Parts: sequence; structure tokens; C-alpha cells
Amino acid sequence: MDRTFVMVKPDGFARGLVGRIVARFEEKGFKLVDAKVIQLTRQHAEHHYEHLRQKAFFGELVDFIVSGPVFAMIWEGKDAVKNARALIGATNPSEALSGTIRGDFATDVASNIIHGSDSDESAEREIKLFFR
Ligand code: PPS
Repeated sequence: MDRTFVMVKPDGFARGLVGRIVARFEEKGFKLVDAKVIQLTRQHAEHHYEHLRQKAFFGELVDFIVSGPVFAMIWEGKDAVKNARALIGATNPSEALSGTIRGDFATDVASNIIHGSDSDESAEREIKLFFR
């Protein structure tokens, strides 16, 4: 079975959305493998978003992700990366469809509730980074 890494970001955690988000993954048929609340260090955050270092929003993104606890999860299921991203919705909540997590719970790309790995390689790297 495939695995993917998913993280409820500080905005979703602070708004008390963890339970509803976990329920959506369970309802879809994913199996929860591991999960924890974690306060990221700046170093951990910069490592996680290393591939975005050249982006203009990199500093803002790191500031945001270390601004409070996150809820990190490993989910297992068929085509886990692809199916998780379908549940999560488009990166920009303004473009995310209703019924997706971002479409239902967020309005701003800079605080879009949730992260999901974008490839099997990213999932493997991110699972190691958060759960080694
Ligand atoms: S890109 O530009 O295509 O590489 O970026 P994208 O894959 O769409 O998004 C990667 C992560 O960057 C976050 N993001 C932003 N944060 C703050 N401000 C702005 N403008 C912004 N644009 C994108 C986006 O939420 C993605 O975060 P993760 O945690 O990977 O979902």
C-alpha cells in the first residue's frame, strides 16, 4: 500500500480542524499509520520547504509554519499521494472546489490549512523528516 505525508498547518490546528480533517481521510478509506502534534523549528521548516527557497514567499511561508503547532500524519491507501491531494484541493483556496478541504475551510493561499506531499519521492522524504 502507498503512503503519503499530510500536515495540518498552524491555522488549521488553531481553528480546531484536526478532527474534521482526520475524519475526511478515514471516510475516504485511508488508514492512519502515525500522527503527532509538533512545533517545528525554523531549521526543520526550512528543510521541509527547501525546494521553495528561491520563491518570493519563502520567508513568509517559514514564518507561518513555525507560528504554532502542526499536526503531522502518515496516511496509507491506494495511490495515496494522488488521492490525498484530491481530498485537499487546489493550493490556492480561491481555486479549490467545494468538498475539498481547502475549498471548504480556507480562503488565502498563505494560510491554506493543510499540506500534502506532491509525489512519492516527496512523501518518502517528508515522512523521514517528520517521523525518523
Ligand atoms: S509553486 O510556486 O508552484 O512551487 O508553489 P506551490 O506548489 O503552488 O506551493 C508550494 C507551497 O507554497 C505555499 N505557497 C505560498 N505560501 C505563502 N504565500 C504564497 N503566496 C504562497 N504560494 C504558495 C503553498 O501553500 C504550498 O505549501 P504546501 O505546504 O506545500 O502545501
